Amino acid sequence: MVKWIGPASAFALVALLTADARTSLCEDPPTSPLSLITLSATVKDEKCHIHGSQHPEDMDNPGAVKTFSLYDTDDEGGVIDRMAEVRGGRDLHVVHDRLMRHVEALPVDYCKLTDEHVDALGYLMGQYQKYRDDLLRLRADAKRFRVGLMEQVADTGLLPDGFADLEAEITYMRIRELRPEKVMELSPNCGWSTHYLLSALRDNGAGELHSYDLVDCSLKVLNAVSPDLVEGRWYFHQGDAFQSHLTKDTADSFDYFFIDSEHTFEFATRIIDTLFRTRRRDLPLRGGVHDSYNNNDKPSSEFQAFLEFFAGQSGERRMFTASPYKSMPFYATIMRIREELGVSSGGAEDNVAPCKWTVYANGMVFFDLYR
Ligand SMILES: C[S@@+](CC[C@H](N)C(=O)[O-])C[C@H]1O[C@@H](n2cnc3c(N)ncnc32)[C@H](O)[C@@H]1O
Repeated sequence: MVKWIGPASAFALVALLTADARTSLCEDPPTSPLSLITLSATVKDEKCHIHGSQHPEDMDNPGAVKTFSLYDTDDEGGVIDRMAEVRGGRDLHVVHDRLMRHVEALPVDYCKLTDEHVDALGYLMGQYQKYRDDLLRLRADAKRFRVGLMEQVADTGLLPDGFADLEAEITYMRIRELRPEKVMELSPNCGWSTHYLLSALRDNGAGELHSYDLVDCSLKVLNAVSPDLVEGRWYFHQGDAFQSHLTKDTADSFDYFFIDSEHTFEFATRIIDTLFRTRRRDLPLRGGVHDSYNNNDKPSSEFQAFLEFFAGQSGERRMFTASPYKSMPFYATIMRIREELGVSSGGAEDNVAPCKWTVYANGMVFFDLYR
């Protein structure tokens, strides 16, 4: 559990987050549920950094192998985007020695809380208070759904992916608050994120979800485990989303874009060119992109494409992520708010998502753009 915020209530804390208070938050070294590390390395004579996390129990275990994304450090935002395997914790050795020759462990500066973070915390605090009882029901439902889902996929070799608790709850609350008539889900895989999206529409009493995937695992799972959620609300479309279904003509029809599909720059460009650039400018553009900051504070190459798009747009925007890799204080304060409201203790035992590592990963970036 994240404890470093101290005895003050998270609610009072958010209200008091002046610049000075924010600085003092960073004076006591935080004890994090995982150790964040930065490795600096020489890759083909170029200085590089990789950022990642290691579980405390693995820090002294030279046998622990972990995979990290590898980024170059130039300011142009160039991303090498290869994976490197790292062995051990404190004494780090890169296994993939074709890529690296020297590794040195450094602490990450994750003590960052910007004005945007403070605004987003204020917003989320209000949302968690408003939807507390619904979230308790939602989490109980999701635990039951998880059992059914795991039974259904047991013999398929397919595994639910890493849509984590915080980002699932935030997605649910956004759908409740924005009350979209038509939500796009790209893509459901075996339906873990689908369950949250459909639950929010059910609780709104209105709205439909259109999900697109190459595989029909979600269809099997949802129909078997939660048929009540599906009826009259869910439309599943199988196949390559952009070859068979999503065209420029569909760009205006969605009110919320949930994006967790092929995580590549090219695929993101297809989404942007087909749906975002062609969309009527007077319509708000709202949604979330998953896996954008999953294990370091650099955007994924997929999310770089979205960042470039957003940077080229005029108008008001709000963007935030609960990823601890982007800001540990932000993540920790939300965890604390949930704990104080009795939504979740935040401990691994209270994690709802099927994948254990998702306790910490919450890499979805939420965006609202008004052009
Ligand atoms: C990360 S998983 C989605 C996880 C899901 N949101 C969850 O909560 O479990 C990515 C999915 O994208 C699908 N996908 C990849 N490329 C696609 C494409 N061109 N069209 C439609 N679906 C695609 C994959 O089949 C896979 O099921």
